[in-house]
Amino acid sequence: MKIPFEPYRSRIIEPLTITTEAERCRYIREAGYNPFLLKAEHVLIDLVTDSGTSALSVRQWSAMHGADESFTGSRSFHKFVDAGRKLFGTRHVIPCHQGRAGEHLLAKSVVRQGDVIPANTHFATTRANFEVAGGRAIDLPIAEQGHPDSDYPFKGNIDIGALERSLLDGEISRIPFVLLTVTDNAGGGQPVSLANLRETSHLCRAHSVPLLLDAARIAENCYLIKQREASEQQRTVRAIADEVFTLVDGLFMSMKKDGLGNCGGLIAVNDDEWAERIRANLLISEGVPSAGGLAGRDLESMTVALDEMFDDAHLEYRIASVHALGQQLVDAGVPVLRPFGGHAVYIDGRRFCDHLSNEQLPAWSLSAALYVASGVRSWETGNVMQGRFEEETQQWSWPRLDLLRLAIPRRVYTHSQLEYAGQSLIELYRSRTEISGLRFVYRPQRLAQFVATFEPVSD
Ligand SMILES: Cc1ncc(COP(=O)(O)O)c(C=O)c1O
Repeated sequence: MKIPFEPYRSRIIEPLTITTEAERCRYIREAGYNPFLLKAEHVLIDLVTDSGTSALSVRQWSAMHGADESFTGSRSFHKFVDAGRKLFGTRHVIPCHQGRAGEHLLAKSVVRQGDVIPANTHFATTRANFEVAGGRAIDLPIAEQGHPDSDYPFKGNIDIGALERSLLDGEISRIPFVLLTVTDNAGGGQPVSLANLRETSHLCRAHSVPLLLDAARIAENCYLIKQREASEQQRTVRAIADEVFTLVDGLFMSMKKDGLGNCGGLIAVNDDEWAERIRANLLISEGVPSAGGLAGRDLESMTVALDEMFDDAHLEYRIASVHALGQQLVDAGVPVLRPFGGHAVYIDGRRFCDHLSNEQLPAWSLSAALYVASGVRSWETGNVMQGRFEEETQQWSWPRLDLLRLAIPRRVYTHSQLEYAGQSLIELYRSRTEISGLRFVYRPQRLAQFVATFEPVSD
């Protein structure tokens, strides 16, 4: 695939810091072999996340300079709510400081002890928030998601049969809503098809159960629908998104991904009672309901992004550059999850490090080794993020896939910088048996990836 011309030019630059391999060995050891705990200034190309790392546009900066910073009822808030209502078609649009704040507010306001929340796949923080509220988050991805080599174009789809069974299970009164994560980050950045969205919506409406979206990457999901779903190729991404919003009863959204912001999130719902409870809880933990803990300038940046994120040239370039990185790895024989995700390329850690057992955390060990070899920071979504130690059986239960994610920040890195990251991984693949396994030194009960520490198994 030919990479289109970058649809922007850079007028502010940030120099990169070059480090030596010996220095990086020390930095990763000091960070407890957790790349998340490295100082960012010690990272050359930071592919740890596409979240909150976008370069802002001239339009966003100019809107931010005109922000109204009144404590409550600001002009910036009303502009944001108007744009959100117009886009999502919901009565209530409530800002909050980031995606997980929205999840927390929704969980606190709607999820009760013993509730069950079926989804294609819950993202880690979503699951944690629902579980802390006493709910049980169940993942019902289609079987193709477990096959890294399958080119099935919509591996983010929910298994409709399994969803129907859980709705008929007699547990329906315990299901406050069904959730579709678009795109499915924990499942490999894979999109949900419009056909699957329509079917899920139909099923939920037939059972009178609300359907919600985790819409963190809604624009990329809709672009991939346009690209991969034969019937949708003539429509604009925005027209596809407009239909998607009619199929659901609400959504929560981190505005740090497709929302092209360094912070921010939102909840959009129709249900007046839910909205009232959310606002009441928001007052306790976030700020006033007409700011959600954000500055007026953040609301301005989000308002612009609600439009800018659907820009065709931006999406075309972005998806093509992610694709080019994936193809570079595939051409060199690196085991990569197919098809490539919208925001990231995922490497199959177990196949890359087939000399390491699950306990030796293959994708996590690869992430540490990649940093030492090249200064490229990546992130695991696998054994550390999703593995669970079952107290009852005293056994580990491992996720179906142990993946290393190269997430691409929006509008930040050039094609040659991404090529360097790809080449570094290819070189590491050639000497992969030298990658040493890691084991936990400190492992918290939840969200281990952010704070856990490790040591080499050989020590
Ligand atoms: C699908 C998905 N949902 C929710 C979140 C949480 O959003 P935030 O990081 O803004 O709290 C993330 C973050 O990566 C995500 O990928």
